[in-house]
Amino acid sequence: MNIAVNPDDHAVHPTIYLKDYQPPVFGVSTIDLDIRIHDTETLVVSTLEMQRLHAGELVLLGRDLELLNVQLNGSDLAPNSYRLDKETLTILNAPDQCTIKTEVRIHPENNTQLEGLYKSGGMYCTQNEPEGFRKITFFPDRPDVLAVYTTRLEADNQYPTLLANGNLIEAGQVGADRHYTIWQDPTKKPSYLFACVAGDLAVLKDSFTTMEGKPVALEIYTEEKDIEKCHVAMQALKDSMLWDEEHYGRAYDLDNYMIVAVSQFNMGAMENKGLNIFNTSCVLSSPETSTDASNFYVKSTIAHEYFHNWTGNRITCRDWFQLCLKEGFTVFRDQSFSDTLQSPAVQRIDDVSSLKSAQFAEDAGPLSHPPRPDHFVEINNFYTATVYDKGAEIVRMMATLLGEENFRLGTDEYFRRHDGEAVTVEDLIGSLSDGSGTDLWNFLPWYSQPGTPVVTGQGVYDAETRRYTLTLSQSIPKKPNYPAPQPLPIPVKIALFNQQTGQPLLLDAQGETETVLMLNQSKQVFVFEHIASQPIVSLLRDFSAPVLLNFDYQDQELAFLMQYETNGFNQWQAAQQLLERILLQGHDASAYLEALLVTLPKVASVDPLLASRLLDIPTETFIASRIDSNYDPVAVRSIREALMNAIAAELKDFWSASYAALPIVPYADTSEAMGQRALRNAVLAFASRAGIANALTLASQQYDVAVCMTERLGALRQLVNYDAVDHDAKLTDFYQRFENEALAIDLWFGLQASKPNATIDEITRLSQHPQFDLNTPNRVRSITGNFATNPVAVWTTEGAQFYANLAKTLDAKNPILGSRILQVLSRWYTLKEPLRTQVRAVIDGLQGQVTSSSVVETLANLQKAG
Ligand code: PHE
Ligand code: ZN
Repeated sequence: MNIAVNPDDHAVHPTIYLKDYQPPVFGVSTIDLDIRIHDTETLVVSTLEMQRLHAGELVLLGRDLELLNVQLNGSDLAPNSYRLDKETLTILNAPDQCTIKTEVRIHPENNTQLEGLYKSGGMYCTQNEPEGFRKITFFPDRPDVLAVYTTRLEADNQYPTLLANGNLIEAGQVGADRHYTIWQDPTKKPSYLFACVAGDLAVLKDSFTTMEGKPVALEIYTEEKDIEKCHVAMQALKDSMLWDEEHYGRAYDLDNYMIVAVSQFNMGAMENKGLNIFNTSCVLSSPETSTDASNFYVKSTIAHEYFHNWTGNRITCRDWFQLCLKEGFTVFRDQSFSDTLQSPAVQRIDDVSSLKSAQFAEDAGPLSHPPRPDHFVEINNFYTATVYDKGAEIVRMMATLLGEENFRLGTDEYFRRHDGEAVTVEDLIGSLSDGSGTDLWNFLPWYSQPGTPVVTGQGVYDAETRRYTLTLSQSIPKKPNYPAPQPLPIPVKIALFNQQTGQPLLLDAQGETETVLMLNQSKQVFVFEHIASQPIVSLLRDFSAPVLLNFDYQDQELAFLMQYETNGFNQWQAAQQLLERILLQGHDASAYLEALLVTLPKVASVDPLLASRLLDIPTETFIASRIDSNYDPVAVRSIREALMNAIAAELKDFWSASYAALPIVPYADTSEAMGQRALRNAVLAFASRAGIANALTLASQQYDVAVCMTERLGALRQLVNYDAVDHDAKLTDFYQRFENEALAIDLWFGLQASKPNATIDEITRLSQHPQFDLNTPNRVRSITGNFATNPVAVWTTEGAQFYANLAKTLDAKNPILGSRILQVLSRWYTLKEPLRTQVRAVIDGLQGQVTSSSVVETLANLQKAG
């Protein structure tokens, strides 16, 4: 048999280009939806009031819909008056004003892709960003078509909670067994912000009064058993509402704000207008079942989705190429909010460390793309660290340059000009420039150039002229298929330190000790006069730009900055630079160890949270992201292990003393308490590594008396990693304790999957556990995400095959997840031989085996590399 296969995947899944953008031919003023949910099918009737805006055909988008009926202005359409293609419904000769009514049948009960309307556990919910709405009904499903929605939902009485965006205007029974609600959203919105929910849910209620004096009803919906875990989220919501009023002058606009927690969700959460839908992992929190990290993530995700109400919903994106317009700005806003939850220094450390490990790595591989891509096959593949986190860094650079007051003038202008519109990155830059009176247009290329710029420099001091000359240059990697990169504006925040006193020098008559240099050419020279002695320069303070720094420091100078820098972020950054030299360039660790020995105890006594971060050692995957060829995972591990062992040995006394000084105390959700827990766990890890006689006994005790998950999990990790005699018993105890707490069981899987010496057999066994579930992305990621931190085992034929098999299985079931899992293999081409050839063969084995646009695009990108 001869099967015709199209060799060009992109012909099957066409590439879409930013330059081809065309405004919509028809607008939709109102849409009336009637959604009737039944066990084996759901019927959706939608009525669109449409108006012609431009010449062209009236085309509605639809995917996996069974069309039952279509009407134009109240009469059934004859088959020759419309055309139904695979993903479009074209109304032929449509008048300029018309009412289009369609009726379709869909199957949320079988929808495992988690886009459109689907069933998660026992409830129905929707996910429509970016292109899920077309799986619910025929519609011009694109973000620049804004309409007013009225939604009638009908379901069996076993689903008493029926929610949609906006205000509840009517509810009632339909016969004895069924009921309905009708909701009206007064604001115009794009289809990706539509949401509805049907379930049997408990609700936590509260309220907030806006600065305009308007009361807002706040409601968080979950399964009954989880409702007590919603208080953290509720408080964070109120804090976010107040913060946006105080920092951006933005008040909430609707009468209610609802959040629904669902257990099966591809991402963290979704900002649907007035009806957010959250992954349970981003809304539920309790000391017993959540770590401090996840508790913190709940708060920042609540803030993120709330802030989208202005940056995303009231002002939305013209097209999906502009995704970073809403995501980058909103991440910048949630990061700024999080500064109020922990020290700004630690917040910046955490944001920069995830930027460097995720975004820099992405930008160094075959999936590298600009924050605003100019083409894509599958937009779901572009919810990336680059769009989100580099997008946030670009806004941060502009904010740094403008200063607080002028940045606020700029954002005020953005909201004033564009409220209610679907706009572009240019509209943001234009508003910020005009509102602040500072031209920011030279930042535009940051949005369109891929790759991480490298800033290189030298400093020269001349004692005779008392002049310090700093030479900085930038280089941006050239990526295939992109034009030669142009120099970017790079704000470089610096200070100069006196080597003798350890004090920062005054840089001007106003007593400033810090200044921002604008590097906007390939190479620039900056001169500082009246400098009394050879200074030490601290560069890129607060990580003022998302760049790699390559300054010709002596190791001793970085060690000096570790001790004398005046803010915690810069201390941490100096330590990281030193660590990268040790791990990547084979530098001797002695300067680092000496500095750590004096610095750590000092910091620990005043800021345990910062001290815990000073003990961050770049991960193996981060180190790998900086090695472009001949990468040997075993060699990298052994270098890193040797360093960790040296740290453990050098600070042996500190571990014992500080563990004893950090007793377990009653739980508190404060930055101080979080710091003590984080430091205690970090110390316990190093004590276990140092082989301190009773370390594992202490771990075992900590497990038993733990008052919260952070303590229990931190202890269990050491028992498992160091094969303590009781590690199996404790793992069983953990499992039994939390059997009914899905998020805690995710931690149980994750902990075992991240064991540094886990073998592929152990991982395979974990994935055959009865509680492993391909339908629940959190559970899948608990293994795939954690195992990915173990490159020694991943980069083998069997390890790569594990990811390839999962990607193949998920290709039909949940392509968004399948594509992300395949991305773990993206840097295969950097491996040393024979691994490189072996892993490449595994990747090539997927060719022709996968069909979804998400997985096919990722596979093609992986194959193009190397
Ligand atoms: N827009 C969501 C957010 O960042 C993320 C998301 C994208 C969720 C796509 C689901 C699907 O807040
Ligand atoms: Zn977002």
